[in-house]
Amino acid sequence: MTDAVQTHSPDARFTPRVFSGIQPSGDLHLGNYLGALKRFVEMQASGIETVYCMVDLHAITVWQDPKTLRQKTREVAASYIATGVDPKRSIIFNQSQVMQHAELAWVFNCVARIGWMNRMTQFKDKAGKNRENASLGLYAYPSLMAADILLYRGTHVPVGDDQKQHLELTRDIAGKFNNDFKSEIVEEGFEDGDFFPITEPLISGPAMRIMSLRDGTKKMSKSDPSEMACIALMDDADMIAKKLRKAKTDPEPLPSEVEGLEGRPEARNLVEIYAALSNQTSEQVLQEFGGQGFGVFKPALADLAVDHLAPISAEISRMLAEPDEIDSILRDGAERAGEIAEETMKHVRQIVGFLS
Ligand code: AMP
Ligand code: TRP
Repeated sequence: MTDAVQTHSPDARFTPRVFSGIQPSGDLHLGNYLGALKRFVEMQASGIETVYCMVDLHAITVWQDPKTLRQKTREVAASYIATGVDPKRSIIFNQSQVMQHAELAWVFNCVARIGWMNRMTQFKDKAGKNRENASLGLYAYPSLMAADILLYRGTHVPVGDDQKQHLELTRDIAGKFNNDFKSEIVEEGFEDGDFFPITEPLISGPAMRIMSLRDGTKKMSKSDPSEMACIALMDDADMIAKKLRKAKTDPEPLPSEVEGLEGRPEARNLVEIYAALSNQTSEQVLQEFGGQGFGVFKPALADLAVDHLAPISAEISRMLAEPDEIDSILRDGAERAGEIAEETMKHVRQIVGFLS
């Protein structure tokens, strides 16, 4: 993963910069940890500049209780830091504290086409049957996400598989902006006429899509009605072990080859979780556990998960006891993020034709 970033430069004209974000809209879970947080830390270690955000402007596209939103934002910040995102090496900040996100999103609302937005499957899923009653923000959400990334001229974005379509849209918006404003971009001093990079999604590895523990065909999600389907980052050791012990499986022993997981989504999911937690491939996990039943595999997985998550949740609790410290880290992050954001917006205002 890290090697891939260092050797693969999607567009050598742009300085590599990683950007990603998580919504402070619910309790973080194992899918967020493996699909996002753990990889944020790997990116940080690769030496590339890393910028990570709590996207509260995204969260309010569906109703959030104002009293809990602030707390959730601190919880996500504490989760970033507890998993190893270092506020000195990465910029960690809260989206609404850098107003340029909303400003660039508006410009992008005028670049993106309604036809593009109509194809977004996450909007269809989230709006459900009562689409007329969904917020306008929920519909425009992907344009704000493009603004988040491109405000920092982000070249690499680590996310889970569910965000793939939004990243394709981000590339389309960057391309159309570069194209529509080509001559102004050149006049602004960008000689080849490209102001925004075409961002590279980083979606790979066994953890890009962690599934529900109750149904191996459904994504693990904080909104799952069954509590047993999802391991929260803040679950205690007993709860983690119980959820994994009761995870749905089939009666067959584990195969020795990955092909043997075909048609066994629950077994595949548990193997992939084990692989991601132990930094191995699924092949390596099956070399060790092939032929064993779940009576052996599940307790081994539970031990691994507890070893991994218990120190994280202890650190989150410790940090949450000192909210002022979190707030001060976020203020500092917002200041650093704001400098980059303002630099981008100065050019954008000029390119689009606003008075300065
Ligand atoms: P969200 O909680 O929707 O803001 O998602 C935050 C990050 O976690 C995004 O990068 C998602 O793609 C990732 N993510 C969410 N659920 C899963 C999952 N079940 N498996 C892998 N990644 C996930
Ligand atoms: N849409 C992402 C999610 O729901 C969160 C997000 C917002 C994001 N802005 C982003 C992720 C920019 C990566 C980059 O998970």
